Amino acid sequence: MRHLLDIADLGADGIEEVLRLTDSFVEVSARDIPKVPTLRGKTVVSVFFEDSTRTRLSFDTAAKRLGADTMTFTAGSSSLKKGESIRDTVQTIEAMGVHALVVRHASSGVPAQIARWSTSVVINAGDGWHQHPTQALLDCYTIRQRLGSLDGRRVAIVGDIKHSRVARSDVTAFTLLGAEVTLVAPPTLLPPSLEGWPVSVSHHLDDVLGEVDVVYLLRMQRERMTEALVPSLREYTATFGLTTERADRAEAGGALIMHPGPMNRGVEIAAEVADRPNVAVVDQVRNGVPVRMAVLFLMLGSGSETFSSSSSSSSGDRAADGSDEPGDPEPVPVGAGSAVEEGR
Ligand code: NCD
Repeated sequence: MRHLLDIADLGADGIEEVLRLTDSFVEVSARDIPKVPTLRGKTVVSVFFEDSTRTRLSFDTAAKRLGADTMTFTAGSSSLKKGESIRDTVQTIEAMGVHALVVRHASSGVPAQIARWSTSVVINAGDGWHQHPTQALLDCYTIRQRLGSLDGRRVAIVGDIKHSRVARSDVTAFTLLGAEVTLVAPPTLLPPSLEGWPVSVSHHLDDVLGEVDVVYLLRMQRERMTEALVPSLREYTATFGLTTERADRAEAGGALIMHPGPMNRGVEIAAEVADRPNVAVVDQVRNGVPVRMAVLFLMLGSGSETFSSSSSSSSGDRAADGSDEPGDPEPVPVGAGSAVEEGR
């Protein structure tokens, strides 16, 4: 697999492989000096056309902990403002000699388009309503860490599913690992068609709360809405928010509460609830770094060979020379074991 554009590209085997390798990088992250030299000589660029706090910092930290050089491109302070196209911008960045582009854009499909032009590895860090594959990986890792397994677990994804790339990636990843997913939202916040989605649907959070192992809350993504889809935020909170009373019921049933961030306290989750011990939001952010280390290692390091042969499907994107192999033919000569044992 040359690029990571869609979580489905990994298949269940590919997801399992990332999660297995993440364990090693969790161990590295716990060291006094949490660094290994696996990607020394590689350059990873964050190409962010849309705002981000955790995803950008997380990829940047992951690349640095693997010894890679990093660069950050932020659209707001770039020559895009002077009329330069995305294609010329990408070519300009690549001319400096880079190996991976971590791309976020407000429009679905931009990372895939960049992958067609690019000679580097492209990793989708969130595109429009479409996909956010590394968020799904860190969510799977967090559920495993807290609950042991996803197999047979019941997960409710609650809220603005219509505009959520996180929901689309999570539904695929969770079900590939054996979980049962219920989408909980008013009809206006669901996609127009759920054909092909392996989910059940409920319009009543109170009906599902006592029956699920994970309650995964989403933000109302108002910047992606073009019309009013709920009567008011207060009304939304009353029917779909994790209020104190609902959180008590979820907690009594042993449910884990998750949220990809950024949270709007007081809207989808009561302010006080967000800090309870069964809320895994901080774990999700913490796990984001080793998960992204695993992804970068598999795509740029010596793991790239294993990864391309063991993941169950491919994105279908090919290198400029027509091969399926990464543009850089010389992976750093250390295995996964030595990658984490070589120390600082
Ligand atoms: C999400 C995103 O940007 O897709 N946040 C994240 O990356 N952790 C979710 C959101 O914006 O609500």
